Amino acid sequence: MLSKKIEKLLVDQVNAELYSGYLYLHMADFYAEKGLMGFASWFKKQAEEEVEHGLKIRDYLHQENSVLPLAPIAAPEGDFKEPKEPLLLQLAHEKKVTALINVIYKAAREEGDYRTERFLDWFIDEQAEEEENALALIEKFELLGKEGQGLYLLDKELGKRE
Ligand code: FEO
Repeated sequence: MLSKKIEKLLVDQVNAELYSGYLYLHMADFYAEKGLMGFASWFKKQAEEEVEHGLKIRDYLHQENSVLPLAPIAAPEGDFKEPKEPLLLQLAHEKKVTALINVIYKAAREEGDYRTERFLDWFIDEQAEEEENALALIEKFELLGKEGQGLYLLDKELGKRE
C-alpha cells in the first residue's frame, strides 16, 4: 500500500504528464499553422507518448488500490513566434519533469517503498532519453533547420517519426 505522500506525488505526476501532452499538442498546432507538418507530426507523437506516461502511472496507482480524483489540467504555456522557441521550451520542460520524477524517487527511497522505486526506474531512463532527444533536436535545428532548404529537410526528417 502506498503512503499518502507517495500517492499524492504520483497523482500529481499523472497531471504533469498529461500537461506535457497538452503542451506538445500546443507546439504541434503552432508548427501546423506555420506549414511545418513534419515538426507538427513529431510533436503530436510526443504528446501521445506523454499521455501514455500518465496512463502508466495511473495504472500503477490502480494496481496499488489508489484511485484518487484527477485535477484539472492547466492551459499550455508558450506564445511562440519562431520555430526554435518550442524546441527550447521542450528541453526546459523535460528538465522540470525529470526533477519531479526525482522528487518521487527520493521520497520512495526515504520511505523504503522499493516497489515504487522500481516502478520509477523506467521513468528515470525515459527522462534521460527525453532530455537527450530534446537537446539533439535543438542542435539539428541550429545546424540545418533555421531557414530555407535546411528547414525543409529537417521538417521532412521529423515527419518520418514512427
Ligand atoms: Fe513524460 Fe516527457 O515526460
